[in-house]
Amino acid sequence: MTTSLLARMAAQTRGLRPVGLAAVGVMVAQLVWAHGDVTPQPVNTDALPDVGEEWLIENPYRAATAGDEVWAQAVLIGDSGYNQNCARCHGLGVVSGGLAPDLRFLEAAEYGDEWFVERFQHGYTQDGTTKMPAFGEILGQKAGWAIRTYIETRPEDGALDAFADRLGQIRDQLMAGEGDPAAIKTELEEIAVQIKTASGAPIADSAARRAALALDGSASAAKHAGEMLTIGLSAAH
Ligand code: HEC
Repeated sequence: MTTSLLARMAAQTRGLRPVGLAAVGVMVAQLVWAHGDVTPQPVNTDALPDVGEEWLIENPYRAATAGDEVWAQAVLIGDSGYNQNCARCHGLGVVSGGLAPDLRFLEAAEYGDEWFVERFQHGYTQDGTTKMPAFGEILGQKAGWAIRTYIETRPEDGALDAFADRLGQIRDQLMAGEGDPAAIKTELEEIAVQIKTASGAPIADSAARRAALALDGSASAAKHAGEMLTIGLSAAH
């Protein structure tokens, strides 16, 4: 961020009542957006099947519709698309800090999809102020549904709690290079399918799932998986 931008923001902030650091961060995010300095980040969706020109009203990338592979790909692409374009308002990892609604609760069914795609396409303007920019034209439909897929697969609050002790032990084993990697992978997969989403989507894209995916038998993968569990467990508390 440039000094002049900071100076401009400081000037605009002066004269307002004192605010906490978090609130300043929020204001900075809004000012940056309002100044057009934050441009929507394009999302590469080449790996996803085409869905046509007409905007759909139901997520085409769910596993039940498109198969596990497309679903998994959509989650990854949506992760990057969401965290680059939506997280500054809706929260990192879709955990809202209160500035904008927590999107994890949008029902993973046609009703939630219609509402999602309406906001994604057109954004939201109130009394002439853009509260949320429109993304439809800029990012396109495939990116929209990939982001939707990522959002609906976020674990709900406290979703890891019941498994935290065991995941902590597995994490320690992975970091120490101990245990049978294949058995650990299987156990992580078994835990992953029990972790719940708030949207009602059948499978959560949790730290347990990501760690299981990462394990390929190599020592570096074990470390990487261990780190993912550490981050997942600390975010849960
Ligand atoms: C500049 C801040 C900002 C950004 C960036 C932003 N949003 Fe929003 N979004 C909002 C606000 C504020 C609302 C609440 C509007 C309202 O009152 O209905 C909202 C509402 C929504 C809703 C409706 C939620 C509900 O429960 O009613 C969806 C869906 C949504 N946003 C999706 C997204 C997606 C997807 C992205 C990224 C591609 C995104 N938003 C980026 C600020 C933002």
